[in-house]
Amino acid sequence: MSDSLVIKGGRVIDATGTRDADVLVEGGHVTEIGTGLRGDRALDASDAIVAPGLVDLHVHLREPGGEEAETIETGARAAALGGFTAIVAMPNTEPPQDDPAVVSSVLGKGATSLCDVHAAGAITIGRAGAALAPMGELHALGVRIFTDDGACLASAGMMRAALEYARSLPGAVIAQHAEDETLATGHMHEGEWSSRLGIPGRPAAAEELVVARDCMLAELTGTPVHFLHLSTAGAIDLVRAAKARGIRVTAEAAPHHFTLTDAACQSFDPCFKVNPPLRTAADVAAVKAGLADGTIDAIATDHAPHPTEAKERTFEEAPPGMLGVETALALAITELVEPGVLPIADALARLSWGPAAIAGLTDHGGPIALDAVANLCVIDPLLEWTVDATKLASRAHNTPYDGRRLTGRVRHTVLRGEPVVTDGEARR
Ligand code: DOR
Repeated sequence: MSDSLVIKGGRVIDATGTRDADVLVEGGHVTEIGTGLRGDRALDASDAIVAPGLVDLHVHLREPGGEEAETIETGARAAALGGFTAIVAMPNTEPPQDDPAVVSSVLGKGATSLCDVHAAGAITIGRAGAALAPMGELHALGVRIFTDDGACLASAGMMRAALEYARSLPGAVIAQHAEDETLATGHMHEGEWSSRLGIPGRPAAAEELVVARDCMLAELTGTPVHFLHLSTAGAIDLVRAAKARGIRVTAEAAPHHFTLTDAACQSFDPCFKVNPPLRTAADVAAVKAGLADGTIDAIATDHAPHPTEAKERTFEEAPPGMLGVETALALAITELVEPGVLPIADALARLSWGPAAIAGLTDHGGPIALDAVANLCVIDPLLEWTVDATKLASRAHNTPYDGRRLTGRVRHTVLRGEPVVTDGEARR
């Protein structure tokens, strides 16, 4: 039996509400909530928020195959520093997570990391869209989110087959990277800026066509569809309308889609290249509105590390993607909470219990209550800091926020009762 840990003097915020309280943790679980609590060890939470650990539905850990950009260990460390106690590793590894052996290896390495690592399974073999992956076998290993992310599952018939098969797998969700690849052939949002810069574009319609179609397929099959990284006003309107009709769809948005516009591409810096692309100011406003009214259930980072030399190519040649896990919470506080787009409790809902519910995680995101597994984060909501790409824990440095001043930072992260981040420093 481990010794006791008290998280002292914080404001506890979870799905049940807000109260000022100490939280006592023993044996990996919350054993008391109250005032004046004592423990063998203490974490200071004065002037801070104590929340359920954050949950990221969308992280690229690059292992196996891309270890020069990130490993499971470095990505999980970066995530813990960002307040995440659980992350879902996307399947576009090399070889891909379409195979029980690959998924088992990812889960095995994740088990010794600084946050819980869950694996998304590919929907189709090789993420190639032609034949279903062994979804049942992957589900038996604990996979709940199936996606060909990085690639859109283009065939409506294959999407229907996946949805029908997933119905027999409790808790399974089919997650779509909604970009019609016959339209999304360019390198940035198709609009005024792409014309000015002479960079071929990816129109909003590429995303919206797939979202419209998959809302229909969710309705046809009755199986839930989760939309990854929504970025256009039209796509968010489609999801809002589908939800109003009772169709089982959920959606996430990435921090870069509520903080950056396509105008950033005028620098020709490939750090701003991402799929789906940075959109217009009107789209950014729509993402914020979707987060505020709950049309978008989750903030998910699409953390996509790339080696420096790959991001030093030209805008057209560089791979898409940007780091996310260490800046997501601060971007939500700076760009959503401080300007009054949504209250901090709603931001935490989108970062913790909203995504936990989609992934079916019972040990993360739940109320901070007696006997709950102690997966927690302690947040300094007012601390200002400047992003320094060279100081991030990820192996790669491709953040678009280098030099940006942000408010809000993780002070401590507690994984199953053990501090994995203390005073902003990750455990070695
Ligand atoms: O920009 C992106 N990068 N979007 C994706 O969907 C995949 C990701 C990656 O794996 O680099």
